[in-house]
Amino acid sequence: MSSNEFRVPDVARDRLPALLCAMPKAELHMHIEGSLEPELIFSLAQRNGLDLPYASVEELRRAYAFADLQSFLDIYYAGAAVLIHEQDFYDMALAYLARAATENVTHAELFFDPQTHTARGVAMQTVVNGLHRACVDAQRQLGMTASLIMCFVRHLPEKDAFETLEQAMPFLDKIIGVGLDSGEVGNPPENFARVFARCRELGLHLVAHAGEEGPPAYIWSALDVLKVERIDHGVQAAKDSSLMQRLVKDKMPLTVCPLSNLKLCVFPSLAAHNLKTLLDAGIVATVNSDDPAYFGGYLNENFTQTFAATGLTSQHAYTLARNSFEASFVDAAAKHGYVDRLNDYFETFS
Ligand code: ADE
Ligand code: ZN
Repeated sequence: MSSNEFRVPDVARDRLPALLCAMPKAELHMHIEGSLEPELIFSLAQRNGLDLPYASVEELRRAYAFADLQSFLDIYYAGAAVLIHEQDFYDMALAYLARAATENVTHAELFFDPQTHTARGVAMQTVVNGLHRACVDAQRQLGMTASLIMCFVRHLPEKDAFETLEQAMPFLDKIIGVGLDSGEVGNPPENFARVFARCRELGLHLVAHAGEEGPPAYIWSALDVLKVERIDHGVQAAKDSSLMQRLVKDKMPLTVCPLSNLKLCVFPSLAAHNLKTLLDAGIVATVNSDDPAYFGGYLNENFTQTFAATGLTSQHAYTLARNSFEASFVDAAAKHGYVDRLNDYFETFS
């Protein structure tokens, strides 16, 4: 059954926030280093004997005013430098997963940026083992599933991405896929054609950030050259009608991040965000938090603020949650289980 066949009763606007917060959902676009709250940055810096160029948590939080993606990335990579030991990666990931579980996220696929850490002398195994142990413990302690997607940073050359893949080879059983992130404009997907082809041969899932700030042409090349299975962001697709048709025809998921787009000035306001346009055009869009510690809200804030600003309905809520499970990389049986739980939730919400 397609999501459009599941008729959802109309829910009054004042009851939508409760519906959105309590519905089960998957988070598919979340950089785990972007979950580092200023308090955690300060406590990890202290634990690891590092000095920060900010006098207090408040001063650091005040620095979170961004003009564009690059101005954010400068602060984000600096914040990630407090992560040194396996336990740091574990603590960061488990803190996010515990928070996500309270928001009824039942499955999360987490991006991580190993090059940010290996460039500082932190070993790949320190990063992957810490994050993976948190994913395993989340299942036992929180009743949710979580998996890892390793991102290559596109501001560095493809040669570095190949080295990163080589370092990750012993840990591929702990990684479900690869992605492409960091500064987009001037770093098109096709620069990473060979390393993505190799990852495809290795049986890894493939995703890429495209059309966050960059043009529709980058989405085309993520699809046709990298052969990705999901596009991260993709909101610039609305500028190209033949690309929109292609995305609909291929049921290509877009992992949209409304509060990120607002904070990085991709849209001037949430009311101007094009999520409703994408959904109403038949695109398999999902809602995600990207870097919630930096963008002023975790997943439920993304849902509630976007619905309040754009007039999305309970039918859209169902479609978004359903899309999040359909677009996830869990196996077919798990997907069915998640969708059954979602349907039960919507049948009994009153
Ligand atoms: N790394 C962390 N957040 C990102 C974003 N929104 N775009 C590109 N790279 C990122
Ligand atoms: Zn992102």
